[in-house]
Amino acid sequence: MLTPVDRAHPARVYDYLLGGKDNFAVDRAAAEEGLKANPNAATAPLQNRAFMRRAVRWLAADAGIRQFLDIGTGLPTSPNVHEVAQGVDPAARIVYVDNDPLVLTHARALLTSAPAGHTAYVDSDLSDVDRVLAGARDNLDLSRPVALLLFAILHFFEDDADPYGLVAKLLAALPSGSYLVVSHVTADHEPQKWARFVEVMRRQGMPSHLRSRAEVTRFFDGLDLVDPGVVPILQWRPTEPAELTDAQVALYGGVGRKP
Ligand SMILES: C[S@@+](CC[C@H](N)C(=O)[O-])C[C@H]1O[C@@H](n2cnc3c(N)ncnc32)[C@H](O)[C@@H]1O
Repeated sequence: MLTPVDRAHPARVYDYLLGGKDNFAVDRAAAEEGLKANPNAATAPLQNRAFMRRAVRWLAADAGIRQFLDIGTGLPTSPNVHEVAQGVDPAARIVYVDNDPLVLTHARALLTSAPAGHTAYVDSDLSDVDRVLAGARDNLDLSRPVALLLFAILHFFEDDADPYGLVAKLLAALPSGSYLVVSHVTADHEPQKWARFVEVMRRQGMPSHLRSRAEVTRFFDGLDLVDPGVVPILQWRPTEPAELTDAQVALYGGVGRKP
């Protein structure tokens, strides 16, 4: 039987691409092979974290959101969601969810809430919506708005795993005034390079399904998109001029409000 160390895992490959230390040889080999297929795979994670910081800060500071449900959290990478949200209001409450056993063992670093707020970790798969919501209910007040955060996780779901249905089911449990944030890898800019990258990841046991702008926008059906809509993440409320191109980052991002 394969142990978690014999097989590459998305959270650890991503950690390696971010320059982290919480990964094994098999993860580093998978990442390096992926980088040979598409060197831009190294720029996307860092910019994805920057988009997370901008979006969470906007939700806390401009939209007044105080509760966050972050699914597919990843290995702790400072600043984590709670550090950004509690930088605006130390009373913010965050529930982290991931299905990777290594993320679970590192979860203590996510449970470092400011005393006025709260953080919790739920070991669950996104596809087990009932379990995710039970964990959210234990720690958040679901009668008040919640920001559902899905950063760089939905590409692990093929259409036949019904990611649109899972997102809709999660949103149905949240009240009006809640938000959805999505970032999603795309092959729109460089289809061939990303097709090679996806093929490498598939061979390593990490199938991924890249989506077009229209397909990413579909996750926001029924929501009011916040300006500037679903855009390459470099264009989502940038705080400084971009030194990279949208093709180098290859992620769409958006924020939508439940009416
Ligand atoms: C690419 S990382 C993104 C981490 C973080 N959200 C970010 O954007 O920086 C994807 C994370 O999603 C988690 N993940 C993948 N499939 C999942 C699933 N079905 N349920 C829960 N977590 C999942 C992985 O374990 C990994 O930690």
